[in-house]
Amino acid sequence: MQEIGTVISTLEGPSTSEFSFVIAETKEIPIRKGQYVQLNTEDGLLIARVAEIIKTNRYFMQAEAVSEYGREGKAMDEFFPVDRWEYLVANATPLGIWDNGIQRRASFPPSPGTKVYRADEKILFDFLGLDAERGLAIGSVEFHELEARLNLTKLFQKHCSVLAQTGFGKSYLVAVLIEEILKRSDELGKPALIVVDPHGEYLGFTQDRTFSTKTKIFRIGDLEISANNLSSYQIAEFQPHITYVGKRELAKVISQLKNEKRAYGMDELIQAVEASDITPKTKGPLLAWISELARSLLFGKIDRPSVQELAKPGQLSILDLSDFIHLRDRQILLTHLARKLFNSRRANEIPPFILFVEESHQFCPEQVERSQAISKGIIETIAREGRKFNACLVLISQRPIQLSTTALSQCDSHIIMHVSNPYDLDHIAKSCEGITKDVLKSIPGLKVGEAIITGEVVNYPLLVKVRERESKISEKGARLEDAILNFNKEFGKKIEDLDAFR
Ligand SMILES: Nc1ncnc2c1ncn2[C@@H]1O[C@H](COP(=O)(O)OP(=O)(O)OP(=O)(O)O)[C@@H](O)[C@H]1O
Ligand SMILES: [Mg+2]
Repeated sequence: MQEIGTVISTLEGPSTSEFSFVIAETKEIPIRKGQYVQLNTEDGLLIARVAEIIKTNRYFMQAEAVSEYGREGKAMDEFFPVDRWEYLVANATPLGIWDNGIQRRASFPPSPGTKVYRADEKILFDFLGLDAERGLAIGSVEFHELEARLNLTKLFQKHCSVLAQTGFGKSYLVAVLIEEILKRSDELGKPALIVVDPHGEYLGFTQDRTFSTKTKIFRIGDLEISANNLSSYQIAEFQPHITYVGKRELAKVISQLKNEKRAYGMDELIQAVEASDITPKTKGPLLAWISELARSLLFGKIDRPSVQELAKPGQLSILDLSDFIHLRDRQILLTHLARKLFNSRRANEIPPFILFVEESHQFCPEQVERSQAISKGIIETIAREGRKFNACLVLISQRPIQLSTTALSQCDSHIIMHVSNPYDLDHIAKSCEGITKDVLKSIPGLKVGEAIITGEVVNYPLLVKVRERESKISEKGARLEDAILNFNKEFGKKIEDLDAFR
């Protein structure tokens, strides 16, 4: 085992919450910030994480001495062996005691003089709470030869958030998670996967040989809500301006219509309201709100797709919303489908599912009028109650501050990538339980493709380098330079075709 240093005595420690060790002199730097180490203590084998590395040199500790030599135009190293007195000191945070497979809190400090070693990878795997056999391999634990294999249940059952500033790899990472689930063997079982994709970022899955057979896309022509199945409660959910009295009267009209007809559309519902004996004071606004709703492209005669089509074990269903221009239409659609999914799951009519919501701050916003946050209710309901029924949510967002605190705080696992906006960081700290100051401080320093995983899924916050994607990246997520080249190529072809035509 590689020895990397010796515990030293400082003003603050060693204590049960921190200790320092001087790093052994080797050709290569044996340790980096964030790496895990182990050492024997009276309490048992202590596992710790390097929180900071500091360089010290006693020759440069006295400001007046350094200044004095500088003034003479001379360097310190002309007089003293300063190189030999440069030390690397690491500050480490004890995480816990590993006692043959059992973890305990560290309750006794290590002794000064104790040798510190690189953490053994096998011990670390269990200590961190990774799942060697069935885990989703999303990348590697930074600085260790260790695959970050996350346990499916611990990651999703109590919901998960994926938060990062735009362009730092959220969709990329979610695609990696989806690949891992789709690749699971049938014996292990696969949940149904549904992705709400406002920008068509996941369409690459349909162009990929390995995954296309497992992927189904639902887009503008495939998505339709039939008025026939809507209760007055649901209509009022889509159109929150409808008053309580309006809702009550609408319920009567709907029940009468149901007695008379087997199937009806929005137009017939409007006619029935017009013909009803509701008082003009209620009828006028009610008609106006329903008519306004009916103008949306979403309403038709059939309810499509069915929940059974949408939620199949091992199938990735992509709801491509990129052709719905209005956010309200997208919200109505998600409200309708998510409610159907949740109710069907409660009745055990569909398999356990994971619903990935991209741009979740648009669908479940904080502090926005009810009429602009139509889908917020159902998302918060799934966030609160979904775990009992294995209806799992993954909230993906680049603006955590605009995302409902209620929904976010129900997520027990978090995957956080680069965020530098202080307001977003503050919101993350408040809404995500288990995020320590230490973790929070490291978030702005993360590079593209690096993620901190924290919460239920791991025993301790984990820095992961996300692996490369296997599936194709959709054209819509392509790099600017590639998109320009593609456009030029296609545009050139069009001109050639036109020339040939002439
Ligand atoms: N793990 C990774 N390895 C290699 N490249 C990556 C990785 N993660 C992200 N990238 C690169 O960064 C780009 C942006 O990533 P991605 O589209 O996932 O960002 P995003 O956080 O979803 O952004 P937005 O908020 O705009 O949707 C990708 O197209 C890819 O080129
Ligand atoms: Mg994205």
